[in-house]
Amino acid sequence: MTHPSERLQALSALYARRAPIYDLELLPVAPLRREAIAALALEPGQTVLDVGCGTGLSLPDLAQGVGPQGRIVAIEPCDAMMARARRRVAELQHAPRMHWIETPAESASLDTWLPPASADAALFFFTHDVLQQPQALAQAMRALKPGARVVAAGLVWASPWWPMSNLFVLGAAMHSIVCAERLDCPWHDLTPRLSAWEVERRWLESAYVLTGRR
Ligand SMILES: C[S@@+](CC[C@H](N)C(=O)[O-])C[C@H]1O[C@@H](n2cnc3c(N)ncnc32)[C@H](O)[C@@H]1O
Repeated sequence: MTHPSERLQALSALYARRAPIYDLELLPVAPLRREAIAALALEPGQTVLDVGCGTGLSLPDLAQGVGPQGRIVAIEPCDAMMARARRRVAELQHAPRMHWIETPAESASLDTWLPPASADAALFFFTHDVLQQPQALAQAMRALKPGARVVAAGLVWASPWWPMSNLFVLGAAMHSIVCAERLDCPWHDLTPRLSAWEVERRWLESAYVLTGRR
């Protein structure tokens, strides 16, 4: 599927359908989420982007990292997912300043919300569809300071001697991804925009955590 409007329609339909049960489905991913957020090494007062924030499962830990003086920019095109994210943050005590951007990351004009090269970190957690949009990556990178931390995590094809892992990736991708290209190297378009990065595999190679610097 290449036409942007078809892709966005498919995304909206997929995530509007998943929104009510999304948090339950993602429970097994919680340890990987904690690891990814810890790798951002957030400090009080910092600004972090949560690109494709979904129902906001990462937001409480991101909020704790940046503290009440910090700032979170949450980008999410599906209103059913975003509504849940907003409710989650409304329940937090001492939430940081929030910027809610309810559009696809590729059309989000972040300059309206924060000066270019001013954000300290960006999280792409299980956002394969975002990583396949170079324009979305360009927008996020433009908002980041040189040296800002970037963490991405998600599904990836395992090597052929892990067939059960690949069956899992296939099933999970069919359930959650619109652009299934590049599942062998989800970070293909991200890493050329980073000055340093490394990828570690998890879950019998079926998941990855990339940590890098803008
Ligand atoms: C598997 S969910 C992950 C949500 C969240 N990051 C989490 O950790 O639970 C993928 C999310 O990315 C969002 N998404 C997909 N394409 C996007 C795009 N182009 N820009 C921003 N968000 C996008 C989807 O709407 C969905 O909420």
